[in-house]
Amino acid sequence: MEYKTIRDVKFGGQTVLVRVDYNVPMQDGKVVNDLRIRASLPTLEFLRAGGAKRIILISHLGRPEGKDKSLSLAPVAKALAGLISDVEYVDDVSGPDVEATVEKMKKGGILLLENLRFFKGEEENSEDFIREIIESTGAELYVQDGFAVVHRAHASTSAVAHELPVYAGLLLEKEIVNLKKAISNPARPLLLIIGGAKVDDKEPLIAKFKGLADQIVVGGKIAADGYKADERVYVADDFDEDGTGAKLDVGPVSTAKIAGFITDAKTIIWNGLMGKAEDPAYATASTIVAEMMGEKEDAETIVCGGDTTGFVENLVVEHPGLKYSLISTGGGAALEFLLGKKLPGIEALEIK
Ligand code: 3PG
Ligand code: MG
Repeated sequence: MEYKTIRDVKFGGQTVLVRVDYNVPMQDGKVVNDLRIRASLPTLEFLRAGGAKRIILISHLGRPEGKDKSLSLAPVAKALAGLISDVEYVDDVSGPDVEATVEKMKKGGILLLENLRFFKGEEENSEDFIREIIESTGAELYVQDGFAVVHRAHASTSAVAHELPVYAGLLLEKEIVNLKKAISNPARPLLLIIGGAKVDDKEPLIAKFKGLADQIVVGGKIAADGYKADERVYVADDFDEDGTGAKLDVGPVSTAKIAGFITDAKTIIWNGLMGKAEDPAYATASTIVAEMMGEKEDAETIVCGGDTTGFVENLVVEHPGLKYSLISTGGGAALEFLLGKKLPGIEALEIK
């Protein structure tokens, strides 16, 4: 897989169109987890410092049916403006309002356009749709930095590659490099830790890693529901229960066993919580896994999946010393990458 990154560009006053994934959790019109926004900052700072004239950001939010005001990117623009200077927002993606705002932008300024999915051209992967955006903004090159959306073949991830020169942003590069290393050339032992509630989502990952990993660990509700252990698959078998006998966290005996696998491993991929960790009473096993991974200095450590990364991010706020090779911003995209699937947003980057 060969692609160019923004490091390969000589910037000299270009207008750059950057696909980010600001599909962030919202509550009462406010961003409640800004991991994906913060993760985009290195690219934005790099473009600005490198001499980009204007930085135009495009993203989706949620799965709106038409122009659903509750899924406007306006609150996201506010959150972004709290993290980096000179951020503007327009409630459209092309046309006169966009053109007028672009015209007035400062050198190195950032403009976030409205939710791409307000327009059907986005999901239809329409070249006309992306061309209108390019014409209204005067974009001269395109940067893909929305790793979390590369599994979608949409106008802003796929058709755009027919219209502009394409480069990977720093977040995209970091995600690809770390995930790729873990599956194609891992330091061994390679340990996969699986948890969460939905066995159907995790089954393909477990199946794929039976041929790749040295050890697989299964915890969470999947283990509590009786997932079948085998030679390389250790399934937690003691649990902390509530008063009704519901198994809500991996218990101490299995946690100790899992801790042993973590100590030995040189590459660890973790997807899915070990218990009902939103309740602190049942967050013990997940906390131990997160802390042990974050303290390891001799291993590649990757955390993926929305619930798991959210949990780890919260822990890092309390314990800033915990370090991971990658807290992936991609939910579905990271899983599809680990499964070795072809991802349209990455294919669009490839040098043919
Ligand atoms: C995600 O959160 O998984 C990405 O932003 C993609 O969103 P989608 O599943 O609605 O395409
Ligand atoms: Mg999704």
